[in-house]
Amino acid sequence: MLIKKVASAVSIVAALGLSHSVMAETFSFGAKPHQAKSMVVFQSGKTLSSDLSRLDKLSNEQITKALSIAKFEGKNKEVVEILAPVGLDTDRLLIVGLGDSKELDAGQVNLIGAKINATLASSDDKNVQVFTQGISDNKSNASFAAQLAHGINLRAYKFDKYLSEKNPSEKNYYLSVQKPRLASENYNQLAAIEAGVFLARDLTSEVPTEMNPAHFAAAAKTLKKLGVKIKVLTPKQIKKMGMGALHAVGRGSTEGSRLVVAHWKGSDDAPIALIGKGITFDSGGYNVKTGSSIANMKSDMAGAAAVLGTIKAMALQKAPVNVVAVMGMAANMVSKTSVAPGDVIMTAEGKSVEILNTDAEGRLVLADSLWYARKNYSPKVMVDVATLTGSKIRAVGNRFSAIFSEDDELVKQLTLSGKTVDEALWRLPLAYGDALKSPIADLKNLGSSGPGASTAAMFLKEFTGDTKWAHLDIAGNALIKTDKGITQAGGTGYGVRLLSHWILNTQVK
Ligand code: BES
Ligand code: ZN
Ligand code: ZN
Repeated sequence: MLIKKVASAVSIVAALGLSHSVMAETFSFGAKPHQAKSMVVFQSGKTLSSDLSRLDKLSNEQITKALSIAKFEGKNKEVVEILAPVGLDTDRLLIVGLGDSKELDAGQVNLIGAKINATLASSDDKNVQVFTQGISDNKSNASFAAQLAHGINLRAYKFDKYLSEKNPSEKNYYLSVQKPRLASENYNQLAAIEAGVFLARDLTSEVPTEMNPAHFAAAAKTLKKLGVKIKVLTPKQIKKMGMGALHAVGRGSTEGSRLVVAHWKGSDDAPIALIGKGITFDSGGYNVKTGSSIANMKSDMAGAAAVLGTIKAMALQKAPVNVVAVMGMAANMVSKTSVAPGDVIMTAEGKSVEILNTDAEGRLVLADSLWYARKNYSPKVMVDVATLTGSKIRAVGNRFSAIFSEDDELVKQLTLSGKTVDEALWRLPLAYGDALKSPIADLKNLGSSGPGASTAAMFLKEFTGDTKWAHLDIAGNALIKTDKGITQAGGTGYGVRLLSHWILNTQVK
C-alpha cells in the first residue's frame, strides 16, 4: 500500500513577492509517496512502468483496460484521467505520456507540468501526489521533478486583479523523487525565475492607465529590497543628457518619458546589458493605429518587463553575475505636444533622425537606451528585447521570436537557450540598412524598402558602436488571448526564462 508520510520533504511556497495575482501552489519533494486524492503517474510508450504496474495490480487491471480503451500510446503530453480507480483509495489517477523522457528539454517538461495543472484545475482535490520515480534524467529524477513543479506553477499564475471572482489555484503537490534535497535546490533556482516571469506578466497585463512610465519606474524600485540598484531619469534629465529620441516619443503623454536602470551586481565581471523597449501604450502617435491593431498595445512594454523580470530572477537567487537592465519608457500618444511626422530629432549618439512615421517609435527609445548602456556601463555584450515590428510576426509568426546579430556565437548561445526553455528564436537577416537614408537627416526611422523587421534592426545597429550585440524582436509573443501551454490568457513574461537560462549557463564561470 501507499505510505502516508513524506520523508525528508522540503516545502516551498513559491509566491515570492508578487504584487497581485494570488498564487498559492506548494511543492514538497519527498523520497516516499504521499496519500492524496489525485495521483499523477508518467508513462513512456505502451509498456507499463513499475509504478503503473503496481497500481494496475491494486486496481484489478482497471488501468490496463482504461489505457487500451483510450488507445493510449505513451506519447508526449497524452493524458488519460481515471476517476475513482478501483482499489487505490484516490479520486483520480492521471496517466501522462512522456514519449522518450531522455529527449525532453526543460521547456518540454514545463509544458507537461502545465498540462497537469490545467487538467486538475477544475478539481476540488487539494492534494496531488506526483510519482516521478520511474523517470531518469542524467543522474536522478531531481531536475525532472523541479522542472515539472516549475511548469505547474507557471501555468497556475493568473492575472486576476480585475476579476470579482478570483478562484486561485491552491493545491499541494507532493513529488516523490530519489533525491529530495537536490530536487528542492533545483526548484529554488527555478522559483526565482518564476518570480521574474510573474513580475513581467504583472507589468504586461496591467492596464495602460495604471502602467505608465512613472508606474513602471515605481515597480522597478520595489527591487531595491533585493539589493538591485535602481536609477530613474525624468524627462528633464533625459533631455539634458541629449537623449532626444527617447524624449520625443514621450512628449505627447502626460507623464513623459523615463529611463529606468536596474543593476544586479553579483560579480566584478564586465556587465551584461539587457535593453528593453518600454512603450506603456502604443497608439501609433499621429500615425495612429486603426482597428484591432491598437487593442493590445498595453503590451508594447513587454521587452522592458522581460529585462526587469530577469534582473529580479538574478537578484532573488543572488546569482554571481553582473547584469544591468536599461529600459526606455514612454507612452506613444496623440496630443498637441506629440512629435509630428516630418520632425527631426537628435539622439545622444549624435545622429539626427527624421521621424517619418510616429508608429516606428520603439527603435527611437531603444536608440538612446543602447547608447546609455554603452556609455555608462561598458558592457561586454548587449541584448535588446522589443515588441518591435508587425513585420516580424508576418515573417515568423508567434511560435518564434526573431534574433538579429552579426555574432554567430552569440546567436548560437541564445538560440540554444531559447530551444531549451521553449522560447524558440529564428534568425533573420541584419541587412537592408541602405533603406534608412534620409535627405534631411543622418537616418530616417522608417525603411523605404526591404523587410520591416530587418530595417528596424539595422536602425538599432547604428547605436551599438563596437559592442557585441543581439536584438530580439518579440512582437506577437508578449500577450495571449486564450490559455496556452505554461500561460493563462494575459501577459506571457516571454524572454525572462530565455535570458535567465542564457545568463546562468553561458556567463557563469
Ligand atoms: N509596437 C509595434 C509593433 C507591434 C505590432 C508589436 C504588432 C506587437 C504586435 C511597433 O511600434 C509598430 O507600430 N511598428 C510598425 C512599424 C512601421 C510603422 C514601420 C509596424 O511594424 O507596423
Ligand atoms: Zn508603434
Ligand atoms: Zn511599438
